[in-house]
Amino acid sequence: MIEIVNVSQNWAIGRAGQLLIHIPADMQYFRRTTKGKVCIMGSTTLESFPRMAPLKDRVNIVLIDDDRKIRPESVAAAEADRAAGRTTELVYVHSPEEALERVKDVPKDDVFVIGGASIYRLMLPYCDTCLVTHNDYPSDGADTFYPDLVASGWRMTERGEEQQYEGTTFRFCRYERK
Ligand SMILES: NC(=O)c1ccc[n+]([C@@H]2O[C@H](COP(=O)([O-])OP(=O)(O)OC[C@H]3O[C@@H](n4cnc5c(N)ncnc54)[C@H](OP(=O)(O)O)[C@@H]3O)[C@@H](O)[C@H]2O)c1
Repeated sequence: MIEIVNVSQNWAIGRAGQLLIHIPADMQYFRRTTKGKVCIMGSTTLESFPRMAPLKDRVNIVLIDDDRKIRPESVAAAEADRAAGRTTELVYVHSPEEALERVKDVPKDDVFVIGGASIYRLMLPYCDTCLVTHNDYPSDGADTFYPDLVASGWRMTERGEEQQYEGTTFRFCRYERK
């Protein structure tokens, strides 16, 4: 399985339930990479999407610990997508084990862990690759952080070209477990 994440300075990834920065090229990269694949996420991350709609044309596996957290608007959006001929699926699970059971027959490179912080940490032991978009946006005020992969013994195996977006520098990188 693969984790995919956009990190700012100090491995910061969020503030008040939202991303710190939206980089259009990173959004496109995320969409291109995960389209048609399985995405595992926490309920907070699903709720951070526009209209709480699951990602189109992907299997959205959402971790919740309480079924009262199931959002009718998310379920309705998935149903509307399918009625329109899309392949969007929304599946709620209650533990990492149940998520793993759901994906056991899916090729491991087709399963992406897409956040947030609690789900990245829970699922990292089951992943051997992380696609990290590093950016130098300040982490001031951030309340959500990704584990420091370098300090945790991962090695960077790809380091993309430096790119710019409105004064922020970013690059696409790949880490593998040593
Ligand atoms: N920079 C990035 O690439 C990126 C990507 C994704 C998210 N983010 C950011 O990360 C932040 C959200 O992260 P987060 O950690 O607060 O939330 P999260 O991981 O998205 O979701 C947390 C929720 O997941 C459920 N959950 C967690 N552990 C569980 C378990 N063991 N069993 C069952 N359910 C479990 C619980 O749902 P219930 O309490 O609802 O039942 C919990 O409240 C936001 O700021 C978001 O924008 C950043």
